[in-house]
Amino acid sequence: MNTKVWKVDNYVDILENNPHIVDAAHFLRENEVVALPTETVYGLGGNAESDVAVAKIFAAKGRPGDNPLIIHIADWEQLCRFVAEIPETAERLMEAFWPGPLTIIFKKKQGVLSEKATAGLDSVGVRMPDHPVAISLLKACGLPIAAPSANSSGKPSPTHAEHVIEDLQGKIAGVLDAGPTGVGVESTVVDCTEAVPVILRPGGVTKEQLEEVIGEVRMDPALESGAGEGGLKPKSPGMKYRHYAPNAPLYLIDGSRSFLQELVDEKRREGLRVGVLTTEENKSEFSADVVIACGQRAELETVATELYDTLRRFNLEKVDVIFSEMFPRGGVGLAIMNRLEKAAGNKVISE
Ligand code: TXA
Ligand code: MG
Repeated sequence: MNTKVWKVDNYVDILENNPHIVDAAHFLRENEVVALPTETVYGLGGNAESDVAVAKIFAAKGRPGDNPLIIHIADWEQLCRFVAEIPETAERLMEAFWPGPLTIIFKKKQGVLSEKATAGLDSVGVRMPDHPVAISLLKACGLPIAAPSANSSGKPSPTHAEHVIEDLQGKIAGVLDAGPTGVGVESTVVDCTEAVPVILRPGGVTKEQLEEVIGEVRMDPALESGAGEGGLKPKSPGMKYRHYAPNAPLYLIDGSRSFLQELVDEKRREGLRVGVLTTEENKSEFSADVVIACGQRAELETVATELYDTLRRFNLEKVDVIFSEMFPRGGVGLAIMNRLEKAAGNKVISE
């Protein structure tokens, strides 16, 4: 299949009737799948009401069928079509964070969405993306759009259109290229079917921000550091898979910079090509084959923005092993550490 690349500008006023968006919307209505930018990562979109379209999403990504997709909408009215009830906590979160990087799990109305899209669950995850191209596309096609991150299953999520092309060229109808995404980590997934809402996946909206709006919010206990390995089953099916992995083994280093440097030196003496994932503040402290600064430690949002691109750059650099700094878990740091732990398969070396 020839994968079209449609370059679009991010200016809202030129997006109305933009021929590329009209073209992409046409493919979506024909139950083809196209990649689209969102404020978090690129998504691989398809008609959420069509088994045919949804099957194409799973096939292109090589995604396990038990992992449900997030449904993307452009306005609140679309929600009533396929959501059974909107609890008050959800409504307050929608008002505060939509459009934005927050996915809310609702009870599902039966018989509207493709059963494949929700992996046969009686709940559904929904979000309204905060990206002019995504919203224009959703409006142009008039459909609820199922969209997982547009990477091959297991690889780091795509924050640039080039990442999508790297993974999915020839497997999808096209990609709307609007340049790099902003937030860099995926949306926060919060389950509002419980009396006290539960975070199933940390992401762009922080636990602290949610609590400011609705009070108490719990974390899925299966997300606590390392718990996934020990048997607790996460409620979000996607969280049980190894994910975001670079090609080389990645180790998280819980210790000083000199400890990390000793590990690098040891591996280099063995003849390995060693990569270090660090930050602007610390990069001059390390000597290794490849040292990449992933944002600034003092501003964790910048680390989130660059994280997946950094992981992919280590692949291009063909390193044999990667050692990474760790980050404080406050704010967006929680999502960063969750992704790094998954990318590392929970391999932590402590000083
Ligand atoms: O920022 C994002 O959320 C991006 C952009 C493209 O919107 N999408 C994304 O989708 O990250 P995906 O498929 O890579 O991750 C969706 C996560 C998975 O962990 C999945 O298991 C969970 O959401 N999920 C979806 N529906 C669910 C449900 N009904 N119950 C529990 N977890 C659900
Ligand atoms: Mg994903």
